Amino acid sequence: MIKIPPFIQQLKPYKAGLSIEQLAREKNLTRIVKLASAENPLGPSPMAMKAINSSLTGLHRYTDPSSYNLVQAIAKKYGIQPNHIICGHGTDSLLAYIVSAFTTEDDEIITSEGTFIGMYVSIRKMGRKLIQVPMNNHGFNLDGILKAINEKTMMIYIANPNNPTGTMIDRKTFESFMDQVPNHIMVVLDEAYTAYASENESYPNGVAYDYPNMVVTRTFSKVYGLAGLRVGFAVGPDHVIEALYKVKLPFEPNNLAQAAAIAALDDEAFLKQTIELNKQSLNILYKCFDDLGIEYVRSHTNFILMLMPTEKFAEEFASGCLNRGLIVRHVDTFGIPQGIRINSGTIEETEFAVEVITKEYQKLIDKLKHPVA
Ligand SMILES: Cc1ncc(COP(=O)(O)O)c(C=O)c1O
Repeated sequence: MIKIPPFIQQLKPYKAGLSIEQLAREKNLTRIVKLASAENPLGPSPMAMKAINSSLTGLHRYTDPSSYNLVQAIAKKYGIQPNHIICGHGTDSLLAYIVSAFTTEDDEIITSEGTFIGMYVSIRKMGRKLIQVPMNNHGFNLDGILKAINEKTMMIYIANPNNPTGTMIDRKTFESFMDQVPNHIMVVLDEAYTAYASENESYPNGVAYDYPNMVVTRTFSKVYGLAGLRVGFAVGPDHVIEALYKVKLPFEPNNLAQAAAIAALDDEAFLKQTIELNKQSLNILYKCFDDLGIEYVRSHTNFILMLMPTEKFAEEFASGCLNRGLIVRHVDTFGIPQGIRINSGTIEETEFAVEVITKEYQKLIDKLKHPVA
């Protein structure tokens, strides 16, 4: 019998929601709108799609393990030395590499409750001890994290802005936190939603710092619309990046992902259109929540966290929306049992979402007020 380590036995396999096709088939629905995975409703960057088409003839070749051209493009765009950059198969993959390269089994990693589930999984699947500090007003409690540091702490993970709460840590708070973190502890700053937050003057742009103990991750999955392609990058001190190259699978990200990411970086028009649509869509959703009296957290991302009265209510709300063709995310597994995350959509998708949310929320509120005896 093969022995499975206890920390692997305790993991729950990733539970993907029903696919749009499956849902249509099973529920006999004619219209389905998916606003559950914080994707770009406009689709992929058009420049990226063009680059993919022109790269197809090179698919018989192995990928460049150093992502030379993509690294150069990122270096130029952000004014960073190329040896401070590594590209990978999405942020998820890079986070797993970061945990495996810089911690050992006896180490502890501190983060927050209610943050990105992918990091919880990366920590647990390697048998590292995960310390989750309670949130402060739905945001990272950095003072609480500092207080939780002990001699076993080797890493701290922060998502700014955070998923699934959408909250942002401002520059002053972030810099004061970094000043207090001991230099031997690595701070992982996940900036998956940076493009949505950067208009805010007090947003700290992680790649502009050169802390000796910080690594910043970015993704092409969100604002560039390339979630299905899997490509992201990390920025950090040269010796940290060198160590990450030792654990990275050599041929990631793949050829098409590298080419698409290079093109997407320059697709300013698409970026602008994405940010503009996001604002419009979120404003429509905010108004809907205000009208219905739904509690929510103001967002600096492309999604909003709604707070339902109870966990059961949230569960029923998500499945009720699903039955009406709207896919939203119940974020209980992120540690927010009464939370529902919905991301921005096209205007038509958002209007459909408002319609469904209104019907479902009112139905459940009525049920709450008038329970059947
Ligand atoms: C905070 C955060 N980090 C990382 C990721 C994963 O990004 P990627 O698609 O690059 O793996 C997500 C995706 O939702 C996220 O919300």
